[in-house]
Amino acid sequence: MTTLAIIGASGLAREALAVVREAGELLPIGVFDDAASGLGSTFSGLPVLGEIDQVETVHADLYLVCVGAGLARERIVERLRMRGVLENRYATVVDPSVRNPAGCPIGAGSILLSHVSITADVIVGEHVAVMPGVTITHDDVIERYATLAAGVTLGGSVRVCRGAYLGMNAAVFPGVRIGAGAVIGMSAAVLRNVPAGETWAGVPARELSIADRLFERTS
Ligand SMILES: CC(C)(COP(=O)(O)OP(=O)(O)OC[C@H]1O[C@@H](n2cnc3c(N)ncnc32)[C@H](O)[C@@H]1OP(=O)(O)O)[C@@H](O)C(=O)NCCC(=O)NCCS
Repeated sequence: MTTLAIIGASGLAREALAVVREAGELLPIGVFDDAASGLGSTFSGLPVLGEIDQVETVHADLYLVCVGAGLARERIVERLRMRGVLENRYATVVDPSVRNPAGCPIGAGSILLSHVSITADVIVGEHVAVMPGVTITHDDVIERYATLAAGVTLGGSVRVCRGAYLGMNAAVFPGVRIGAGAVIGMSAAVLRNVPAGETWAGVPARELSIADRLFERTS
């Protein structure tokens, strides 16, 4: 059986493991995490195998990076690449309830949880995390390392750029672009393009004030 190592002892890891175990096609063999020494010997019924830089110590056929923040996933994938783990060594985990009738492509390393709907002519890139109940409609592009929290709804022709994060139940107007690394607050209604790296929230969504962002940096 194809073996799978989990990278990152997180809530997302437990959610992905539930899907993997139900499907029964991959054999999870353990977890690597930079905080391994504080985790005890097991995580979600799997042995804790060591820190992420120790992945070579135990062979796994495939890996799955389960860290919630997309930009952190990107850094880990780069660290693994330095240790010889290339893109063809990542599992793609898709809950059986996901609707993808047009067979839209889903990149390696991506995780799609229950009741995600993908309509037509969508592209989901590599290492994307899509939480339960997300709706992705025609001509949407979800670039690598993006994260869509539960209940996000995207109108048609939306582009979610690399590493962007959309909070729970955010809705995005058709044709809008969410810039790389941008963060969208839960329940936002995004009507305009969001520049890379900015944090927007509210209805209609606007950038969080400079004061908020200064507070963030100093707190
Ligand atoms: C938008 C978000 C990223 C901002 O986080 P933050 O930078 O820590 O901001 P703060 O919590 O300090 O809030 C700053 C201000 O923005 C407001 N705000 C925060 N989140 C908001 C939201 N989703 N909608 C509207 N206003 C929001 C706060 O009320 C606060 O306003 P105030 O200064 O007038 O009191 C965060 O609140 C959020 O919504 N994250 C997504 C959570 C989520 O969906 N998680 C999924 C788990 S799987």
